[in-house]
Amino acid sequence: TRPLKVALLGCGVVGSEVTRIMTTHADDLAQRIGAPVELAGVAVRRPSKVREGIDPSLVTTDATALVKRGDIDVVVEVIGGIEPARSLITTAFEHGASVVSANKALLAQDGAALHAAAEEHGRDLYYEAAVAGAIPLIRPLRESLAGDKVNRVLGIVNGTTNFILDKMDSTGAGYQEALDEATALGYAEADPTADVEGFDAAAKAAILAGIAFHTRVRLDDVYREGMAEVTAADFRSAKEMGCTIKLLAICERAADGESVTARVHPAMIPLTHPLASVRGAYNAVFVESDAAGQLMFYGPGAGGAPTASAVLGDLVAVCRNRLNGATGPGESSYAALPVSPMGEV
Ligand code: HSE
Repeated sequence: TRPLKVALLGCGVVGSEVTRIMTTHADDLAQRIGAPVELAGVAVRRPSKVREGIDPSLVTTDATALVKRGDIDVVVEVIGGIEPARSLITTAFEHGASVVSANKALLAQDGAALHAAAEEHGRDLYYEAAVAGAIPLIRPLRESLAGDKVNRVLGIVNGTTNFILDKMDSTGAGYQEALDEATALGYAEADPTADVEGFDAAAKAAILAGIAFHTRVRLDDVYREGMAEVTAADFRSAKEMGCTIKLLAICERAADGESVTARVHPAMIPLTHPLASVRGAYNAVFVESDAAGQLMFYGPGAGGAPTASAVLGDLVAVCRNRLNGATGPGESSYAALPVSPMGEV
């Protein structure tokens, strides 16, 4: 069988782990897919950076030329951000490639258009790594639960803020002190706005709500409130009530089943709820459905290797589809449940 050619866009923390696993697990991957997988090109911004284990002749700064080559089976996009990722993914579909992406911002904003482009060209768009790192969520919701009816998805989908809130809860520290520790330990970015103001969680909520309810939810549809206002006193009050405080993404179907909502805000949850025991920078997502009842997905929501695990899983699925001439669920499998804007919660 001919090797399947993979183009990697971006070779940072996640991309370099993807190439490492592709190399070290090459035989296993080939067996699971039914054909070997070959790294055909790696597009980077800084070509001079030494990249261990990557043949320098594969490295290019011209990502557009790479996705236009025409012989690429799968483009793996781990650049992040809206542009140039969006144009590169669209160009990849136009030139016959399927796409695996870890890009939550892009999927939350333009998921519908990208899915439509994939479907138009008979190609796949998979993005397990875009939400909660290594934790399998997109495919369980999109495929394993496709015959069930999901009513609510409730989750801790941002590790940085969970680390901060956990620190405040367990030590009585104030917000700033806990944030400083998260920064020192490398959890929080130098600019933690996207995490603490809930933008990162809102993008993930938009993607999860869309997948869980088979509709389209955009970032703008998600009500968002960050956690920077939570104080040590709030934790003391919560404790007196047998609760803790978590930054939750909550996606639910309206009682009449006619619309869906998605929101992100700090919430008090009883210490007896399984989400209360999610410590440190971990993520967890609780799913409630008609037939399955309650399910919980738990694990590392960030980091190079965990995120690469999700990317590689998608790569295997997309490569299998390529060999079978099949595609995964596309845009037309979505119904059009209206999304209700949220007012104040
Ligand atoms: N900043 C994110 C987090 C990274 O803390 O969870 C993963 O998207």
